[in-house]
Amino acid sequence: MSSPAVVGDTPVDVLISEKDLRARVAAMGAEISRDYKDRPLVLIGVLKGSFIFLADLVRAIDLPVMVDFIGISSYQGTRSTGVVQITSDLSRPIEGKHVLLVEDIVDTGLTMRYLLDNLGTRRPESVRIAALLEKPARAQVKIPIDYRGFVIGDDFVVGYGLDWDGKLRNLPYVGIPRVK
Ligand code: IMP
Ligand code: MG
Repeated sequence: MSSPAVVGDTPVDVLISEKDLRARVAAMGAEISRDYKDRPLVLIGVLKGSFIFLADLVRAIDLPVMVDFIGISSYQGTRSTGVVQITSDLSRPIEGKHVLLVEDIVDTGLTMRYLLDNLGTRRPESVRIAALLEKPARAQVKIPIDYRGFVIGDDFVVGYGLDWDGKLRNLPYVGIPRVK
């Protein structure tokens, strides 16, 4: 592998470049625009990791969409705890709405399982999932991902919204930090 970028004092190897992210997110937006034509859509970003993906995705969707956010915590360090909590709830009811949950990465799947169950009780018309990344090697529950950006291996990744203990979200690409 070529020599990594050094961010702060963390070496980071590029896994998915800005160019590849741009192209894939544009294609996902086009697909969503076709699928939801004439159906009012609410995008729900799962905070915090999805904020950059959501910002790019929403601009690639050629429909009148609404945007809301739900805050979730499930992670400490580089391993999922499996304990999911809502830290900040939606600002509006979703009853009768077509909902698209926008997530940075589906790893064990426990966060999405929890959110599907929780949002399901609020009687939306439909719920689908758009995930930038999927890490199937660590899946504990099967999650139906309707719009998938990239499937990745069993590496801990950062950038494009994804963090390592709160840091490195602002990298414009997805990379693998050389965790010491
Ligand atoms: P899950 O519940 O194990 O599927 O984990 C989902 C959440 O864990 C994601 O929304 C991410 O915020 C976080 N996460 C999982 N894998 C990674 C990773 O490789 N880098 C950074 N965050 C991750
Ligand atoms: Mg997340």
